[in-house]
Amino acid sequence: MEKLRLGAFISGGGTNLQSIIDNCKKPEYPARIVVVMSNQEGAYGLKRAEQAGIPTVCVPHKGFKKREEHEREIVERIEPYQVEAVALAGYMRVVTAYLLDAFYNHRKGLPGVINIHPADTRAYQGAHGYEFAMGMLAEHPQRLAETKITVHFVDAGVDTGPIIQQVSVPVLPDDGIDDLRGRGLKVEHRVYPEVIRLYAEGKLKIEGQQVIIL
Ligand code: GAR
Repeated sequence: MEKLRLGAFISGGGTNLQSIIDNCKKPEYPARIVVVMSNQEGAYGLKRAEQAGIPTVCVPHKGFKKREEHEREIVERIEPYQVEAVALAGYMRVVTAYLLDAFYNHRKGLPGVINIHPADTRAYQGAHGYEFAMGMLAEHPQRLAETKITVHFVDAGVDTGPIIQQVSVPVLPDDGIDDLRGRGLKVEHRVYPEVIRLYAEGKLKIEGQQVIIL
């Protein structure tokens, strides 16, 4: 079977990118990263991609008046790589319907953009998901007993798309933010490649807002 041609979008350190890169090295893994795109020039994830021999594209968002204009530039720059699906891996930009339409996977009849989020997307959206679970945000001072790592299809809202998989990670009494983040990232690194595998193997279906794993 042809491997799914995956684009990975990053903004930062790229530990999730690294876990996907590592999984893609396995001969039986059904996807391969054909390009890594960053909106941040200094993102360490770009180095990880270069070390793995994966082409990189950097499209800083500064200077674009509208999100769609930035996204149009991204779509044009990565067009040569024939991306079939995009994994947002710590990509800290809200995406618009323009990008989602550009990457809709017509062959699978599924959205083509997937995201990983360190919290339950039904409870908290946006950046700082681990801080949310720790009760460190002024508007959310309550410390939770657990966070729920969420992998979801991206829709035009912020972290509102159909949930593909969630895994609970406990917030332990002695945890500092780095303890929770470290424990959570280990789970992220396992779950995200698993979901990409399900997507690539055609084992996901959407009915309404519900994702069914076949
Ligand atoms: C990860 O924890 C990811 O879940 C989160 O950013 C981090 C990126 O780390 N994403 C979001 O918060 C998206 N709303 P990484 O660059 O080491 O993969």
